[in-house]
Amino acid sequence: MQLSSNISLKPFNTFGIEATAKLFTVINSVEDIKELLLHKDYKSNPHFILGGGSNILLTQNVNALIIKNELKGIEIVKETEEDVLVKCAAGEVWHEFVMYCIAKNFAGIENLSLIPGNTGASPMQNIGAYGVEIKDTFYELEAIDLQTGKCITFSKQACDFGYRESIFKHRYKNQFIITSVTFKLSKKPVFHIEYGAIKQELDNMGISELSIKSISQAVINIRSSKLPDPKQIGNSGSFFKNPEVTKETYDRLKNEFPALVAYPLVNSNYKLAAGWLIEQSGLKGMRKGDAGVHKLQALVLVNYGKATGKEIYDLSTEVLEVVNRKFGVLLEREVNII
Ligand code: FAD
Ligand code: EPU
Repeated sequence: MQLSSNISLKPFNTFGIEATAKLFTVINSVEDIKELLLHKDYKSNPHFILGGGSNILLTQNVNALIIKNELKGIEIVKETEEDVLVKCAAGEVWHEFVMYCIAKNFAGIENLSLIPGNTGASPMQNIGAYGVEIKDTFYELEAIDLQTGKCITFSKQACDFGYRESIFKHRYKNQFIITSVTFKLSKKPVFHIEYGAIKQELDNMGISELSIKSISQAVINIRSSKLPDPKQIGNSGSFFKNPEVTKETYDRLKNEFPALVAYPLVNSNYKLAAGWLIEQSGLKGMRKGDAGVHKLQALVLVNYGKATGKEIYDLSTEVLEVVNRKFGVLLEREVNII
C-alpha cells in the first residue's frame, strides 16, 4: 500500500473534471485497509472513499486522502436448487458482475445492466433502473469501521434502503468502507419487463422467449440509445432525483399541465419525472460554456470537455431555480457533491 500526493483526479471521475487530491492510495486487500488505518497520514487527514467515480461532482481540489477501493473477487457462498448467495468484492466493476451472474443464469440484477461504477458503491444509493433496485436482491454487506478497524456485517434492514438512499449516504457517510456485497439471486427467474420501454425493445429485437440475457440486452440497448457514454461526454448519470410530491401537488400540476409525467406511489404520493420538468422548462440541450443539459436526457448534466465542477454545479442551481419557478417543485441533487 502506497500513498501518493497531489494526484490528478481527472481519470477517476466520469464527469472528467480536473481536480487534484492532496493524497491518494489504492486498496487491494482488507490487510491494506488495516495497514492504512495505522498510517500517520491517514490519522492526520480527512479521507474520502472512491469507487468508479461515476456518481460524484468535484467542485474543488480535494484536501483529503482519497482511498480508491479495488478489492477483487466473486464467490458463491451458498447454493440451493432455488437460489444462490453470491458475494462480490467492492472493487469489482458492477456491470462485469452483472454479466458474470447472467452467464451463470443467476437472476435478479439483469435489469441493472450497464450501470457504471463498482459493486461497493451499489448499496450507497441503492442503485436502480428499469423497475429494479439492488435492495430487491441484496442479502448483506461487509464494511470496515474506519475508526475502530472492525469488520461489521449489515443486513438489508440495517442499510435502511430507500429511493437512491441508504444509511451510508447520510448517518454513516465516510464512516465505513464497504468491502463486499452479497446478493441472493434466483435460479428460477422472475422477469421484470413492466417498465414500458423494455417490452418495446424486446419486440424490436424480435425476442419471443424471454431470458435474463435478452432482458439485459434490451436494457443495454435502451440505455445506450439515450444515456451519454462518459468516455465520450463527461457525466454522472441522473443529476437530480425524481421528486416525490403529495397528491394535492400532483392534482394542482396535472390540472395546469395535463401532459405531466408522474407515477403513483403506494403511500398515495406521486413521483414526477424530473427529466420532463426540466425539458418543459425549456432547458433540454441548454449549454453554458462546456457545461450542459444533455440533448437526449434532460436529467443528465454533461461536461463537453473543459467545464469545471463549479460550472456544472452552477448550472444545476439554475436548473433547480427555473424548474421551481415554473412548477413550484424543488429538485434534489442525486450526485454526491465534493
Ligand atoms: P463513486 O462515484 O466512486 O462513489 C459514490 C459514493 O459512494 C461516494 O460518496 C463514495 O464515497 C461512496 N463509495 C464508493 N465506494 C464505496 C465503498 N466501497 N465504501 C463506502 N463508500 C463508498 N445510478 C443508478 O442508480 N441507476 C442508473 O441507471 C444509473 N445510470 C448511470 C448512468 C451513467 C452514464 C452514469 C455516469 C452514472 C449512472 N448512475 C446510475 C450513477 C452511478 O453509476 C451509481 O451511483 C454507481 O453506484 C456509482 O458507483 P461508483 O463506484 O462510481 O461510485
Ligand atoms: N423525460 C422527458 N424528457 C427527458 C427525459 C425524460 O420528458 O429529457 C420523461 C420521459 O417522458 C419518460 C420519463 O421522463 O417517460 C422517465 O424517463 P426515463 O425512463 O429516461 O427515466 P428517468 O426517470 O429520467 C430514471 C433513473 C435512471 C434510470 C432510469 C431507468 C432517477 C433519478 N433516474 O431516470 O437512473 O436509469 O430511470 O429506470 O431515478 C441514475 O440514477 O443516474 C440513472 C440514470
